[in-house]
Amino acid sequence: MSTNLLITGGAGFIGSHVVRRLVSQYPQYHIINLDALTYAGNLENLTDIESRSNYTFVRGDITNAELVESLFDKYSITHIVHLAAESHVDRSITDPLIFIRTNVLGTANLLQAARKYWGNEYSGKRFYHVSTDEVYGTLPLEGGMFTETTAYDPRSPYSASKASSDHLVRAYWHTYGLPVVLSNCSNNYGPNHFPEKLIPLMLHNIIHEKPLPVYGKGENVRDWLYVEDHARAIDVVLHQGRIGETYNIGGHNEWRNIDIVHLLCDLLDQRLERPAGKNRNLITFVKDRAGHDLRYAIDASKIARELGWYPVETFETGIAKTIDWYLANQTWLDHVTSGAYEEYYEKQYHRS
Ligand code: NAD
Ligand code: DAU
Repeated sequence: MSTNLLITGGAGFIGSHVVRRLVSQYPQYHIINLDALTYAGNLENLTDIESRSNYTFVRGDITNAELVESLFDKYSITHIVHLAAESHVDRSITDPLIFIRTNVLGTANLLQAARKYWGNEYSGKRFYHVSTDEVYGTLPLEGGMFTETTAYDPRSPYSASKASSDHLVRAYWHTYGLPVVLSNCSNNYGPNHFPEKLIPLMLHNIIHEKPLPVYGKGENVRDWLYVEDHARAIDVVLHQGRIGETYNIGGHNEWRNIDIVHLLCDLLDQRLERPAGKNRNLITFVKDRAGHDLRYAIDASKIARELGWYPVETFETGIAKTIDWYLANQTWLDHVTSGAYEEYYEKQYHRS
């Protein structure tokens, strides 16, 4: 049986790294990238692989049942790697319903289509849901890590929508035997990261000498993983993960927000040949995020033990690569901030 893999959200930050990896590593697979191209979808992330013969891009919404079923039918889909989501916590606080629509209803729609199209013929099939560590809630500053058995305790509309979709995926496994696998990952960083999230926003603002908004006192802790390490983990879980199982993915790399902002300021003082300490003057402490989770930390020992996955980047090497990429790709950044990236689809896919 040939492998026809539907990846959702492949024009986004993590999805684009996963698409690139799977298209390159598995020339025998057909990779179909379904993405609605919301503000977060950017086909300029995929220019280097868009003309590969094993790759097809489809613009469309995962909540559109007719479309999703037609793709299963047209491409004889055998595998799904589901990443499409509304992903930004701050947006979920101001506009929660789109998160419920895309993350909950969209996931349910994909599950239904897989069940309908696959019937009870599940051999060789796989439905992989890519999720977040935020479903586990928050940790105290000192001690504790999220494991795969930590009780769910989502606290933002974003994390509640992702928790709902995780529960639905597991329910389809328990009820219908749909062959699912899940992973819950910590904060990613790296190339193609939309500059609304902490690290790319700070890089963008430092380059342009704009204020650096740090929420509260900057004492919240996140556990950072280089995005290509996550893409490789997704490859490993897709191929080796046990059906019905969940794998936590993380870098064992906890940082307070303020320490990351200081680090980025200091590294960019050097790279942009500014006087030492200049960029730190841009830091502005602003009102805290509502319901701001204090600390996330992932115990990634299960995926290491069972599947042999470990991150290869240290934070030092990963952040150096990230800074190199943003400095070398200021056109990408300019297109994102000006909105010009939204014209790429029409130019590339709808040429007359
Ligand atoms: P992103 O916001 O950069 O990309 C999301 C993609 O989904 C975009 O290309 C967007 O156009 C697409 N999309 C949104 N709504 C859609 C819809 N209705 N139909 C089709 N496509 C739609 O997100 P990301 O940071 O790359 O995250 C990808 C996935 O990984 C998400 O499920 C997220 O919850 C999860 N995740 C993210 C992180 C992180 O640190 N960024 C960590 C763990 C898990
Ligand atoms: O943990 C995984 C999650 O990581 C993913 O599931 C989400 O999709 C992803 O967006 C990310 O969520 P966070 O809320 O942790 O990421 P964000 O970059 O928005 O914020 C990181 C930390 O930095 C958080 O404590 C809030 C803070 N922050 C963020 C922004 C945008 C600031 O202090 N200032 C800012 O301007």
